[in-house]
Amino acid sequence: MPDANTALARQTNDLDAFWLPFTPNRAFKRAPRMIARAKGMHYFTPDGRAVLDGLAGLWCVNTGHNRDPIVAAISLQAAELDYSAAFHFTHPKSFELASRVAALAPADLNRVFFCNSGSEAVDTALKIALAYHSVRGEGARTRLIGRERGYHGVGFGGISVGGIVNNRKFFGTLLAGVDHLPATYSREHQAFTKGEPDWGGHLADELERIVALHGASTIAAVIVEPMAGSTGVLPPPKGYLERLRAICDKYGILLIFDEVITGFGRLGYAFAAERYGVTPDLLCFAKGVTSGAVPMGGVIARQPVYDAFMHGPEHVIELFHGYTYSAHPLACAAGLAALDLYRDEKLFERAKRLEPRFAEVAMTLKGLPGVLDVRTIGLSAGIDLAPRPEAPGERGYEAMDRAFHDEDLVIRISGDTLAIAPPLIVSEAQIAEIFDKTARVIRAVA
Ligand SMILES: Cc1ncc(COP(=O)(O)O)c(C=O)c1O
Repeated sequence: MPDANTALARQTNDLDAFWLPFTPNRAFKRAPRMIARAKGMHYFTPDGRAVLDGLAGLWCVNTGHNRDPIVAAISLQAAELDYSAAFHFTHPKSFELASRVAALAPADLNRVFFCNSGSEAVDTALKIALAYHSVRGEGARTRLIGRERGYHGVGFGGISVGGIVNNRKFFGTLLAGVDHLPATYSREHQAFTKGEPDWGGHLADELERIVALHGASTIAAVIVEPMAGSTGVLPPPKGYLERLRAICDKYGILLIFDEVITGFGRLGYAFAAERYGVTPDLLCFAKGVTSGAVPMGGVIARQPVYDAFMHGPEHVIELFHGYTYSAHPLACAAGLAALDLYRDEKLFERAKRLEPRFAEVAMTLKGLPGVLDVRTIGLSAGIDLAPRPEAPGERGYEAMDRAFHDEDLVIRISGDTLAIAPPLIVSEAQIAEIFDKTARVIRAVA
């Protein structure tokens, strides 16, 4: 047994200790996909191979990798103020970033609560919703409504309202009192649709059924992703989000948009709420706020939600919730630099402009062996491959692995569904390159 200093000093390539998240560890450790550095649209492996990033990191590096202004902002901040708590104290950039984020959000979504990840953003929003009803004297509103196939991170709140079976079934009874809307996807009615499908708006009316079952006075909030990303890019059917909003208004239920993926340009707007002209009561964000450079998440609340808490003696905390690293100085510095880049390079508009071309190129995959559906929205695409009999997920896994090792491309998988969502700086030539590589991979795993 080496002493601690010897162990620390030793350069080791031992792959045993790190238990990788959401990864088949044994398969990974047999043939690791290792990334050493990155710039712009590319990763570089330790042996110097350039790998095209077809997934903006993990739906987060929307400005492209290692952008100089973000790198400089983080370095300067680290030298100036490494940390200050946001409980009872804070630093100026926390207010600056909150104001800038609020200014990007529609209507009276103008109070920003910071945390460190999408999962924390979701738990924060669910807790604000419950507490909001409680402080207004409607404490019986405790039910939370999510949606089948929804992904809201991995906290107990998020997996309870989420609708992906493997994220739920190992973890006990989850939160009590949760119900789910049906997923909005139907291959029969929607296959190979660019953008929002025509079919499916009526599925929002399922909320009426849930209200009739439980009683509106027991329901606190409904949470949905405007576009369900992690389950394989499911754009909202036309009219769906508008109908959800109307039903929530009718019954005094808060509507939460989980914009952890759709925020900061993925759908061609700062937030999907703007694309659809639907304002939620609470909006979760993360990922793109710092372009992935420093962990950060948050919730934007409509002013009346915030105001509901601002009562009672002024020395008493209004919301008993927060994180040691809420509004961390490095995250705020990275966030401000990322927002500058989005503005100066007009990256949201760029995504909007590229959307039709992106969709057109993605649809060239139609007709390749085993391709059951291609869906697109903004700069994202989901491609369903036929599962192999007896081995669901194997074809998808092999596709992701081959993309990296054989085609120098990073894509994401969810079972046998491939997801593509490049940084918003992607060029038209790189869009073509991503889908050419993907086509070769699809043929190789046929
Ligand atoms: C819609 C949505 N919500 C929440 C999360 C969880 O975010 P994090 O992994 O930062 O906790 C994700 C992650 O992909 C997401 O897509």
